[in-house]
Amino acid sequence: MTQDLSSNNSDTVYLKDYQSPAYAIEKTDLDVAIYPGESFVEARLQLVRQSGLVSELALDGEQLELLAIEINSQSLSKDQYRLDDGKLVLIEPPERFELYTKVRIQPEQNTSLEGLYRSRTIYCTQCEAEGFRKITYYLDRPDVMSDFTTRISAAKSECPILLANGNLVEQGDLTDGRHYAVWHDPHKKPCYLFALVAGDLSVMEDHFVTASGRNVDLKIYVEEKDLDKCDHAMASLKNAMRWDEEVYGREYDLDIFMIVAVDDFNMGAMENKGLNIFNTSCVLAKPETTTDAGFQRVEGVVAHEYFHNWSGNRVTCRDWFQLSLKEGFTVYRDAEFSADMGSPTVKRVEDVAMLRTHQFAEDAGPMAHPIRPASYMEISNFYTLTIYEKGAEVVRMLANLLGPELFRKGTDLYFERHDGQAVTTEDFVQALADVSGRDFSVFQRWYNQAGTPQLEVRDEYDENTREYTLHITQSTPATPECADKQPFHIPIAMGLLGDAGEIALKLRDEELEDLPTDNTHRVLELTEQAQSFVFTDVPEKPVPSLLRGFSAPVKLKFAYSRDDLVRLALRDSDGFNRYEACQRLALGVIEDALAADSGGELNNFTPDERLLAVYQQLLQEEGLDRAMLAYMLLLPSEGFIAEQQSVIDPIAIHRARGEVAGYIAKALHKPLLAVLENYDLRKPYKPTAVDIAARLLKNTALEFLMREPDQAVVDLCVKHLQQANNMTDELASLTALVNSRSPLAADIAPQKLADFYAKWQDESLVVNAWLALQARNANPGGVERVEALLAHPAFEANNPNKIRSVVGVFANANPVNFHGGTDADPEAGYRFLADQVIALDSKNPQIAARLITPLTRWRRYDKQRGGAMRGQLERIKHTPGLSSDSNEIVSKSL
Ligand code: TRP
Ligand code: ZN
Repeated sequence: MTQDLSSNNSDTVYLKDYQSPAYAIEKTDLDVAIYPGESFVEARLQLVRQSGLVSELALDGEQLELLAIEINSQSLSKDQYRLDDGKLVLIEPPERFELYTKVRIQPEQNTSLEGLYRSRTIYCTQCEAEGFRKITYYLDRPDVMSDFTTRISAAKSECPILLANGNLVEQGDLTDGRHYAVWHDPHKKPCYLFALVAGDLSVMEDHFVTASGRNVDLKIYVEEKDLDKCDHAMASLKNAMRWDEEVYGREYDLDIFMIVAVDDFNMGAMENKGLNIFNTSCVLAKPETTTDAGFQRVEGVVAHEYFHNWSGNRVTCRDWFQLSLKEGFTVYRDAEFSADMGSPTVKRVEDVAMLRTHQFAEDAGPMAHPIRPASYMEISNFYTLTIYEKGAEVVRMLANLLGPELFRKGTDLYFERHDGQAVTTEDFVQALADVSGRDFSVFQRWYNQAGTPQLEVRDEYDENTREYTLHITQSTPATPECADKQPFHIPIAMGLLGDAGEIALKLRDEELEDLPTDNTHRVLELTEQAQSFVFTDVPEKPVPSLLRGFSAPVKLKFAYSRDDLVRLALRDSDGFNRYEACQRLALGVIEDALAADSGGELNNFTPDERLLAVYQQLLQEEGLDRAMLAYMLLLPSEGFIAEQQSVIDPIAIHRARGEVAGYIAKALHKPLLAVLENYDLRKPYKPTAVDIAARLLKNTALEFLMREPDQAVVDLCVKHLQQANNMTDELASLTALVNSRSPLAADIAPQKLADFYAKWQDESLVVNAWLALQARNANPGGVERVEALLAHPAFEANNPNKIRSVVGVFANANPVNFHGGTDADPEAGYRFLADQVIALDSKNPQIAARLITPLTRWRRYDKQRGGAMRGQLERIKHTPGLSSDSNEIVSKSL
């Protein structure tokens, strides 16, 4: 049953109301003249009617000052057009015409960072999703695809570099020290993929020869000071280009591919055709300034944007409800790429941890939406973990159901069939159905129903018949858009572990000759609310290893005993499920600690020694990937633990998790210390999977040891801080020192923080990390600390990276301080966040709206906390002139 989501609200856009565009824009000719403080945009659009008579045609346009308007070179009289709010309406337009408009815009005043804006010294654009309408009047929707020519002119001294999509066709000097460049993009595209850049940029150049032997020039444009940080992005780009040829048969299709790095950017990066624009945080990397996570992010985002050239640009979205068509698919593609470049199991563990902590929370909150939403108020609010990460999980399930050969056939068909088109998620699934003959009608529900399905699995073993049965039921909690969920199609990859190892599997109605060669692994397909699967010839009661590789984005309930989990943790053949067993074991122990907590004191609590025994064995296991070991030792995050609670008590969670970590640190002091002592601090830095894993394990050990360190451990931490030859180790040591509750660490942490800042103050991205580590500090006094950071000269109030590093990190990654655990005023964290949202909302509504998220979860907390959070949401709601972005989030969560 579908709830009526205020359909009288005219601000809501509905998928069911989709209509194809009344006009096509065959050609788009832009002339952008940049001057200090103002720019002028002249547009010549060739419009052609697509259907019967149209009495009015509305073009989108925001914050534009209209200076001239002509149709077929004739000025329009006042009765031939009108300016409504956000629209230019043409009255009785001809069937085929050229529309000429000239507008004035002010990039220097544009703090929203969409449309044309200025980031430090660079003029750049961000048009996805609906930013092009801040540049000129247009049909700003992805199913209007046009042939773009862009002329840019500017002062040569200020802006020696002038870039736009496609190929450079002309350039030259003008009078008054100005110059111009003309770019033409031979591929038709929607305007959200338009880009231009003007500024004083340095370039790193390379080239790539495609599989069919064409040369592609590769250029990365950055500020001169950052030229030494482009190598990794360039190498990643070439790897991605090769990988897409080999794995998907996709070649690049222009003679030039450009990346530009800017400091002020709302998201990670943008896939504009031939001219990707990146947040500096997602392109710049060098060992001295960038952590391993930073290197991996650069590799992943460079690949992601590159892969969009096919999954997004050549085949694009019909409308913004289809966003996951390009984003879910492209995230799946970049995840598989990163897996191939490093360790697949490690990558999977990292992605699943993120999904389960943050996407599951979104699915359980007031903004829950299907990966293809049915309605939205502000599309920018739907660039979510659900669209991206859950969308990728849905594509992953399809890929796994088909297997690699059929999936490749299916994507080939999809790209061929829809090249140059703007399509829907159904078109994608249909191509996969066509090559495989599979029926995906039940599977389609993943696109239309929100919420995280819960599987309840019960098992039964009959010694006499040697039959082993798994009884599986599924249910999905109600979400705002839908109360009654139909069953999902859920692939459950599994195996059975006996005393001596994996058991050969035979389902009751399987014929012997149908059995796969790998006979210890099966994928069960659940398509109904309840199903049972019977295995025959099972010699003993096994422990089931379920949902291997996290084969579906669901919550799995099975009554594992702790001994079962020990068996899985130590012996499962599936790396992911070994990790998963450790997480379940650790979660159980932390829940024991929570149960023992009475008023802040843990009475008679000692952790289940089986957890320590498992850790001890893992630390000794030969050949175990060091990164897997690190993740298996790492306790579930406070956010993940919170997700498991019906009423979240962030303070108790923090205490319980800390207590268990302290026990582990003490009990495993020797082997953890050995990890540190065996680490070679002088080894030259390389961002290879093996070296990243070694650093991750070492820094995990350091974090444990610094919980209750003696002087020797503190000295070791300081030594690592001072002798580190890379930012991963340097930052990890500083973080461990700052987060430690020990007075031995607290005495020196302020000086070390100051030293670090003095050393790195000119490296903006390092300063972000320095801000973030303090915003994350769980020690008492969090609110005062972040307030002080906002007043620090390093903070820039309009820069999204700085805002995220302080405000975002505090509210999302420092739960104990955000929820007032150690402060005299328990509401101070909530008030702080609301203050920041209100201050930012009129300047950059996209970022302001995103910051609100933690407050929207108020229903998950007790009455007092939840009430206080709700109070701050009310305060935001009543801010005069609140943006539609923030209004959507606030009103849907109240
Ligand atoms: N398409 C971009 C991506 O690949 C997303 C994006 C970049 C974006 N900048 C944006 C979305 C600004 C909304 C607003 O992930
Ligand atoms: Zn994307």
